[in-house]
Amino acid sequence: MSEQDKVVIFDTTLRDGEQSPGATMSHAEKLEIAGLLDEMGVDIIEAGFPIASEGDFEAVKAIAQQTERSVICGLARANFKDIDRCWEAVQHAQKPRIHTFIGTSPLHRAIPNLTMDEMADRIHETVTHARNLCDNVQWSPMDATRTEDDYLCRVVEIAIKAGATTINIPDTVGYTAPRESAALIAMLLERVPGADEIIFATHCHNDLGMATANSLAAVEAGARQIECTINGLGERAGNTALEEVVMALKVRNDIMPYRTGIDSTKLMNISRRVAAVSGFAVQFNKAIVGKNAFAHESGIHQDGMLKNAETFEIMRPEDVGLTETNLVMGKHSGRAALRSKLADLGYELGDNQLKDVFVRFKALADQKKEIYDDDLIALMQVGEAEA
Ligand code: KIV
Ligand code: ZN
Repeated sequence: MSEQDKVVIFDTTLRDGEQSPGATMSHAEKLEIAGLLDEMGVDIIEAGFPIASEGDFEAVKAIAQQTERSVICGLARANFKDIDRCWEAVQHAQKPRIHTFIGTSPLHRAIPNLTMDEMADRIHETVTHARNLCDNVQWSPMDATRTEDDYLCRVVEIAIKAGATTINIPDTVGYTAPRESAALIAMLLERVPGADEIIFATHCHNDLGMATANSLAAVEAGARQIECTINGLGERAGNTALEEVVMALKVRNDIMPYRTGIDSTKLMNISRRVAAVSGFAVQFNKAIVGKNAFAHESGIHQDGMLKNAETFEIMRPEDVGLTETNLVMGKHSGRAALRSKLADLGYELGDNQLKDVFVRFKALADQKKEIYDDDLIALMQVGEAEA
């Protein structure tokens, strides 16, 4: 695959993710997560919003100082004070980036009460200022997916001319749908002069549960940076989940021939660490990293899995950092799984013995959600005592 097929992974767990109400992380926790992101191969780490607080500033600065491989990015609103503060923090990085943004949709333009022309001037001035400080500047028209096409093209062109090297297209309120997400990137690539010289990024929120699909659709239309967070952490329903886009591009590389630099075997560990430090538990059935993502209880599935794992798994647990598939014993489990589980526990059973134990197992399973190894051992011991 050529260099052109690389999709840059921009992680914003420490900025947009931390904006989830209640997800605040300590200084030490942020440094730990940044280290894990860097180790996993994330290209760009958005480490925080330096003007937001003294703590955010210190965390971005410390992450900038400790990181050697990933680009370290800080967020700034469209004013010189924010941008200067951001630069003060990220300038310590081997590879710094300033990310500046302003809301461009009619609803967002009304907040600072700027006319379209005034906002266009503000974008020109602030991106120029950021570029005078740093060679690597990202600009975002917040709420891009609800901004008029003509105005979006106009402001994106201004930002490119002022020196932005990445243009991020945020779906700030998770409003778009895959076809529309792709059409927007295609429209910008076609209509904006200079668009082929910069990288387009996609930044999706998950309010309608379409963030991953919208991000992948944008990539298929020409975006080459995906903005995402571990476990999809983020405001309201969260952001695009990093683990989902990475594994989708890996597993369905046949139809989406793009590569990321992520070592997917590190996904499970970082997911658990982010859940622990943010206090946001991962839902059991969460794609890729949920407790049940590689677990099977029903008899038909367990039987299939014991014969050939590909029957009910499209990726190997090892590919995301798990050691093995989890065959959960419960009332839907069948004889094959029970035999295999008991063999793992050291009990090799003949057919008649298995028949007896299976009856007792089903009776117990009707009373309990999950049957643990200790329950099975107890079942075997009762059987041995009765024999
Ligand atoms: O969702 C959004 O619009 C953002 C911007 C600051 C990029 O997070
Ligand atoms: Zn966002």
